[in-house]
Amino acid sequence: MSSANPDLIRVVYISRANFTVASAETGVEPTVARILQASRINNPKLAIGGLLYYGDGCFFQCLEGERSVVVELLKKIKRDPRHKDMKVVYQVSTQVRQYSNWSMKYIPASDRVQSLLAHNGHKRFDPYQFDKEMVKKLLQAFRLINHERDHADEPGSLEAEGASPADQRKALVKWLAAPVVLGLLAGLVWYGYA
Ligand SMILES: Cc1cc2nc3c(=O)[nH]c(=O)nc-3n(C[C@H](O)[C@H](O)[C@H](O)COP(=O)(O)O)c2cc1C
Repeated sequence: MSSANPDLIRVVYISRANFTVASAETGVEPTVARILQASRINNPKLAIGGLLYYGDGCFFQCLEGERSVVVELLKKIKRDPRHKDMKVVYQVSTQVRQYSNWSMKYIPASDRVQSLLAHNGHKRFDPYQFDKEMVKKLLQAFRLINHERDHADEPGSLEAEGASPADQRKALVKWLAAPVVLGLLAGLVWYGYA
């Protein structure tokens, strides 16, 4: 009954970027943005979900999907000249997807990640130094960070953070509606006094 019990796996690998980032640069690094773009086109067709973190010159990517499909994608990613030293640091068989709606979520480097690292005795994001527990803690933190972001209303940084176009539209409508409502209220007050 393989269709009722799909052979799913969740894999985390780490790697080092083969490019350098201009220090003054803000937002998503252009090479990372291109990787995300390809992932968001390809992964839904493969029913693969996951997340990608990039910080201090290292990648940390979680891929989840049907075992053979994930294995094939990992082989393809390994051949990519934009990174090196690829190493699988976590792998688990599962029947329950945790990333079903995430073709590839981007988790930007943030103070939250820095404090988690510091709290666990790491000065920087060097995933080659992390043990299995740290990898699990990071996965949990990334999921939480993303969950909170999905529920935030600010549209300004949503694109960089990987919000869906529908989420961006909803947030934008809220932001546009606020001044209109305030204007109407002000008009009513003014009309009451006139
Ligand atoms: C760190 C890293 C992560 C990547 N993750 C993915 C991914 O999740 N899905 C994907 O299709 N390509 C990913 N890529 C890009 C692939 O290596 C490859 O360039 C891309 O799949 C080619 O897409 P195409 O066959 O549509 O041209 C990643 C590359 C790097 C360096």
